[in-house]
Amino acid sequence: MSNSGKSDFFYPKEDVIAQANVNEYEKMYEYSVNDREGFWEEQAETLGWYKKWDNVLDDSDAPHYKWFDGGEINIVHNAIDRHIAGPNRNKMAIIWEGENGQVRNYSYNGLNREVCQFANVLKSMGVNKGDIVTIYMPQIPELVFAMLACAKIGAIHSVVYGGFSTEALASRIDDANSRILITADGGWRRGKQIDLKSIADDAMQRTPSIEVCICVKNNQLEVEMEPARDFWLHDLKSLPIASSQCETEHTGAEDPLFILYTSGTTGKPKGMLHTHGGYAVYTSTTHRMAFDIKPQDRWWCAADPGWITGHSYIVYGPLINGATIMLYEGAPNYPYPNRWWQIVEKYGINILYTSPTAIRGLMRFGDRWPKKHDLSSLRLLGSVGEPINPEAWRWYHHVIGQDKCPIIDTWWQTETGGFMICPLPITPLKPGSAAKPFFGNEIGLIDEDGNDTPLNEEGKLIIKNPWPGMARTIFKDKERYADLYWFKQDNDQWYYLAGDSAKIDEDGYIWVIGRMDEVLKVSGYRLGTSEVESALVSHPKVSEAAAVGLPHELKGNAIHTFVILKEGIVPNQALEIELKAHVGGEMGKIAVPELVEFVTVLPKTRSGKIMRRVLKARALGQDEGDLSTLEE
Ligand code: WTA
Repeated sequence: MSNSGKSDFFYPKEDVIAQANVNEYEKMYEYSVNDREGFWEEQAETLGWYKKWDNVLDDSDAPHYKWFDGGEINIVHNAIDRHIAGPNRNKMAIIWEGENGQVRNYSYNGLNREVCQFANVLKSMGVNKGDIVTIYMPQIPELVFAMLACAKIGAIHSVVYGGFSTEALASRIDDANSRILITADGGWRRGKQIDLKSIADDAMQRTPSIEVCICVKNNQLEVEMEPARDFWLHDLKSLPIASSQCETEHTGAEDPLFILYTSGTTGKPKGMLHTHGGYAVYTSTTHRMAFDIKPQDRWWCAADPGWITGHSYIVYGPLINGATIMLYEGAPNYPYPNRWWQIVEKYGINILYTSPTAIRGLMRFGDRWPKKHDLSSLRLLGSVGEPINPEAWRWYHHVIGQDKCPIIDTWWQTETGGFMICPLPITPLKPGSAAKPFFGNEIGLIDEDGNDTPLNEEGKLIIKNPWPGMARTIFKDKERYADLYWFKQDNDQWYYLAGDSAKIDEDGYIWVIGRMDEVLKVSGYRLGTSEVESALVSHPKVSEAAAVGLPHELKGNAIHTFVILKEGIVPNQALEIELKAHVGGEMGKIAVPELVEFVTVLPKTRSGKIMRRVLKARALGQDEGDLSTLEE
């Protein structure tokens, strides 16, 4: 996809350089890796702490690192309380537009009132510090209020993407053993109402732990409310207990802030756990430096808050930095393909951060849609989620950024909490490369034997150091976390294995190629082949299934599945449609396979593992490679 090393540089314009928050990279990078703790300590000092840390980094139990341990901080103190005590009190915090054109605005003070009320509602429902609250919502302001309300009282949120369906939600509730679920009657997508509450009802049927379900009224769907379990938020907010004042809990720097489930190589999604202190420092620093945030900026991260991008760069990083954030609930091309460009113009968005899939999707409709609008407010653009192909990069740069906006291509993961590789606005750019490591990070590439990979050759991407935004563990599985992600080098250093492959060129630019494991990136969303497979085999007619990701022009990856039916079941097109719908019902629309192919055998190793590599090669008409481990 990327043509490493050979492309021309795109140089930032004078005015971009002149106003950059960080105007020099090399020296500061040197300093940040030579005195990592010093660098991060300085960044931590820009935040508000109730009590200062004892140690910046505690590596006594590596790779279970602790950052700012002994310190007391609450991320909400930084995202809200500090602002309302100062000049940002009446500044706009959130601008929300619904797909049907409805608009709601909240100042920092207004946001505080909402979050306090929500926090008091949670308390009245018996939510305590350390409890896990599952949130399953459309992209509405209440989703942000709910997250912040949990954090404010020291509860842990577990947000499940609103596009997921029954089984995906049930299994996440189950793993977290949540007592409380926050949801909404429904959401909007392409003019249609999506019935979230009934999906939540089905999920609650499948898992015993939910005792209280708080439901936000967002549209006109008729929903069933189970007495003594289900409550409308607006009813609870009208109770005297839900006052708009609430003390922010003094949490420890290493206290958990949230878990977010993400797909891995095998089995069920893993609950990645992030903390109040290091995560606050990391998200705010990366956001401030890479996106050059200014007090007057209107920031639009067009991801869903239900994924890590939304957690770190819709909610926490930008609010800590006191930005005005844009939220839009709905499809980018509804009712017409200019919807996003209309939003940019109407609200004067300065920075737009989105995925290559969205860019490719909008590019498909041609230049005339963006050209209808005044996009001159844009100063910087961002990309995340998958490698951006140079063609999409150039269109984004030229047509949307009008040749003046640097594109900040940010490589990172749910596990990393924030950007690990990205340019700064002052960095000369190469389309398709995420450029250089962010401060404090040393990135390397290794081959199968653990040796450094030569220039311009593909290798496994590793991070040679801990960083404050790193996930602390997989929820309930400390050992698996260490085993899956960290390995000890001969020099006694712990290295983090990202699961991606990449190249580094002669200018030190990093070109991320993609996942090396069974993780798929479908339209930038992360899914595991195993999740799609278990959804398929949960259908009564299916005996076995295998899923692979094939390259797809628009979506990055498309899911192709191979299915063995139970004895006596005859394959036909109706069944193919039925199976696709079944996966949609269990997992959500994003997991619906592009293709269901009926087969009678699957290639397996002698130990019974499906050789997805062989399936993939076959589907692509490529050489199947070494088949010596294939079972007869
Ligand atoms: C991929 C999303 C290339 C990568 C923030 C990573 C990228 C996975 C980029 C994590 C990028 C993310 N260029 N690939 N700029 N950003 N990826 O956990 O494969 O949903 O491992 O986090 O997305 O996906 P996740």
